[in-house]
Amino acid sequence: MSKNIIIAIDGPAGSGKSTAAKMIAEKLGFLYLDTGAMYRALTYAVLKLNVMDDEEKIIHLAKTVKIELEFRDGNTIVTLNGTDVSEEIRSKEVNNFVSKVSAIPEVREELVIQQQRIGSHTNLVTEGRDTTTAVFPKADLKFYLTASLSKRAERRFHEFQEKYGSITIEEVIKNLKERDQIDSHRKTSPLTKADDAIEIDTTELTIEDEVEIIIAKVKEIYQENLNK
Ligand code: DC
Repeated sequence: MSKNIIIAIDGPAGSGKSTAAKMIAEKLGFLYLDTGAMYRALTYAVLKLNVMDDEEKIIHLAKTVKIELEFRDGNTIVTLNGTDVSEEIRSKEVNNFVSKVSAIPEVREELVIQQQRIGSHTNLVTEGRDTTTAVFPKADLKFYLTASLSKRAERRFHEFQEKYGSITIEEVIKNLKERDQIDSHRKTSPLTKADDAIEIDTTELTIEDEVEIIIAKVKEIYQENLNK
């Protein structure tokens, strides 16, 4: 069998990665791997056990909890030790702590191994903060998505309002800024654009535009390879 194809997309929260990645995976018939969901599931476990201030316990949890993702009908079902936590991992509390948990090097080491295992044998569209640099540095196609802070906040605000109702735009901006700061400045594999990633500013793009641009790039690259 020929080598599986990996499309990796990185960028800050609200840059349009998840929705686009899901749609692209569906269109191409690839698996979708939401790496952020894994950090979120672990953070949910940390909060549940109230061990936020105990790094040793967080690392132990990262090595022992069973986090599984299933891509079903365009959605990712996330289970933690067999329990469906797909909704819970999107809560305000998880949003507020996930960057701190994911900045711990040993946590990253463990989850990156699991992500690489998932991507070792199947065609994949994946997204996160380090999928183009640390998880799949040899990905076939890499994208780096950006958007203005106000646009990113607006997107997250609408998502949150639909789900939970009670949040202000100021809270969303504060959370995004804090996460941007931690995700981009942590010691291990911070969010950064890989040299060979294609950068797309999605501020003025609809999700359909975004998907179209990425799919066109995928076709261009594969056409070039087929013609070689
Ligand atoms: O994409 P998201 O908002 O669901 O990601 C949640 C957090 O998880 C993000 O703020 C930082 C962390 N994360 C990470 O450190 N590395 C990844 N590859 C994906 C997410």
